[in-house]
Amino acid sequence: DIIEVQHASPNRPLIAVSHRGAAGHAPENTLAALDAAHELGAETVEIDIQRTADNQIVLLHDTTLARTTDVETVFPDRSPYLVGDFTLEEIQRLDAGAWFAPSFTGETVPTFDEALDRLEQLDLNLFLEVKEPTLYPGIERAVAEELVGRRTWLEHNPPWEPRKLIVQSFDWDSVRRSKSLMPSVPHALLGRVPEARIAEFSWAHMINPNHTTIDTAYVDRVHDAGLEIMPYTVNDRARMDDVLALGVDGFITDFPDTGQRAIADF
Ligand code: G3P
Ligand code: CA
Repeated sequence: DIIEVQHASPNRPLIAVSHRGAAGHAPENTLAALDAAHELGAETVEIDIQRTADNQIVLLHDTTLARTTDVETVFPDRSPYLVGDFTLEEIQRLDAGAWFAPSFTGETVPTFDEALDRLEQLDLNLFLEVKEPTLYPGIERAVAEELVGRRTWLEHNPPWEPRKLIVQSFDWDSVRRSKSLMPSVPHALLGRVPEARIAEFSWAHMINPNHTTIDTAYVDRVHDAGLEIMPYTVNDRARMDDVLALGVDGFITDFPDTGQRAIADF
């Protein structure tokens, strides 16, 4: 029951992928950020995942808990506060919202399982970034096992609709491992794959570089290889207009409402 991934369709809609939940509006990688993305009209969100000391997958961008939680107050003697040094139970004692704004006090670091529940409730599509996978050997298999229990994420990826699920990483070996485990799921390489190497990645669906590193020639090379391209993280409205003019298939932004307006006006 493997579904072949199809490559870029000329009829595909442009999409504004809401970054880290909706990082411009709510504390990144929390359930509140997923709710904010939905309220702002986003169809697709990006989140980052890592693994705890007791092998649970949680949403977090940095490899340490220091910036986005109160870990330094709750566990002052646990520097450098690496995600992988804490159990899920310990991480769930932390506040992951107050640093962003007092009104988000009480938000916690969600598990991947909790985030998938919320995404399903809100009918949001997902760009899933496997963050620093060399720190978490086997995380690709854990992700695949979680998703296999939720078949809808593996089966609904028609290329003419906003993608249901894209798995992506800056670690291209990890992306390859994940693709082998979930061949029906489109995968993305994060970062700027050198032009001379793009053809090596014909098994992938997308290349998503930093928006500051691309031009029309690069966008054309990616498309020539049959891949899509959605650069990150485009927050300025004028820059959104610029990257759309380069011919991208969408972009990743902290401000999905602004992004959707830019696409509507394009
Ligand atoms: O989706 C790509 C983008 O999120 C990569 O950058 O640092 O925000 O994870 P970063
Ligand atoms: Ca990310």
